[in-house]
Amino acid sequence: MNNVLIIGSGGREHALARKFSESPQVEKIFVAPGNAGIAEIAQIVDIGVSDFAALVNFAKENEVALTFVGPEAPLVGGIVDRFEAEGLKIFGPRANAAIIEGSKSFAKDLMKKYEIPTAAYEVFSDFRSASAYIKTKRPPFVLKADGLAAGKGVVIAETRDDADAALADMLQNKRFGEAGNTVVIEEFLSGTEFSFMAFVDGERVFPMVIAKDHKRAFDGDTGPNTGGMGAYSPVPQIPEEIVEAARLEILLPTARAMVAEGRPFTGILYAGLIATRAGARVIEFNARFGDPETQVILPRLESDLFEVLTEILAGEDPELSWSDDEVLGVILASKGYPDEYEKGFAITGLDKLSDETLIFHCGTAVCDEATGTNEQNVSPPSKPDYITNGGRVLLAARKAKDLATARRELYRDIKNIRCKNLFYRKDI
Ligand code: AMP
Ligand code: GLY
Repeated sequence: MNNVLIIGSGGREHALARKFSESPQVEKIFVAPGNAGIAEIAQIVDIGVSDFAALVNFAKENEVALTFVGPEAPLVGGIVDRFEAEGLKIFGPRANAAIIEGSKSFAKDLMKKYEIPTAAYEVFSDFRSASAYIKTKRPPFVLKADGLAAGKGVVIAETRDDADAALADMLQNKRFGEAGNTVVIEEFLSGTEFSFMAFVDGERVFPMVIAKDHKRAFDGDTGPNTGGMGAYSPVPQIPEEIVEAARLEILLPTARAMVAEGRPFTGILYAGLIATRAGARVIEFNARFGDPETQVILPRLESDLFEVLTEILAGEDPELSWSDDEVLGVILASKGYPDEYEKGFAITGLDKLSDETLIFHCGTAVCDEATGTNEQNVSPPSKPDYITNGGRVLLAARKAKDLATARRELYRDIKNIRCKNLFYRKDI
């Protein structure tokens, strides 16, 4: 039997913990730092994702057989290099490969060099040349802060004035801090977006089923970009040929390119794609599982995740089997997200949900004095199980024979969740 350590604290990590808990080979599951919902199914550990020394110690002291990293920041910061140097088994890319997510200009240059299909682009680090460049182009403009910005560093400007204002915000006012010192300006692509992830080890690529995320905050794809407001899998709008072409023309060549660059990638490679009329084009690469995609993809994975990962690390080919069931998930977010929001509002009604609704906690805390409940929002004497403690708070998902059924049943059931300060999209 094996102990597993998951690093991270969101809905993605909740889904990972649940999947590992189904493995007969896994004994204990630790999640650092985890959250209140994850604590129901795993042991949460009070160590932050960037405290590598404490994580290494914990893994050693608790005989952790495999560590799995959820979020990008520790990957980009070199957590895998650190664990490997200590002889610990960990699944994820080293820092020199995680850069495929950590730097958009690295990813764009890689795609240009290896002819991986993506939007045409230019990279700028001063406002005047960026502004001069957009005067030579037609809107809409896609402007991206180069570094990590939690999925929020992209602006789609419909006019030159809006583009100028956004460029000034990034390059002069440092809205995204260091991450915005360099800006990538891209050609605007139109088509259906989808997320295509794979387990990768060097040149070996084992693709997963695809999913569709909904990045905009409000219904009808309006409002600001977020980390993702809901997702489903499969994606019926995307024909199988496009997925297969994306495997051959995007995932495989990218894995090979990383090896050729001396940056072999081991971990989850996430390609955010747009199916244009000319075929799939890359919008972004991530070096990890997507959130909320993971919460709708892992419930479809029938294989043992622990076995899959250990086989890949041992150089063997895993067998991936997927359920034909379809899964749809909706994020409940704090009002104000992705901008400012308050925390500490009572969440009730989770106990009234159907057993078939899966709840993944993204940002919750248990209601006690230490967490500083927003008292006026907790109606005594009934103490809620959870309070809101983040921007994205919960993801509710449903698995059914088709997406229409999953959607209908989920939206009916979701009404049982009561909280004064949550909103969700009605059109996932
Ligand atoms: P990113 O953080 O790079 O995934 O971008 C966030 C969102 O902006 C994407 O999910 C797309 O909806 C949109 N986007 C990014 N790049 C482009 C592009 N070149 N053309 C059209 N939309 C884009
Ligand atoms: N859902 C998009 C991401 O994880 O980056």
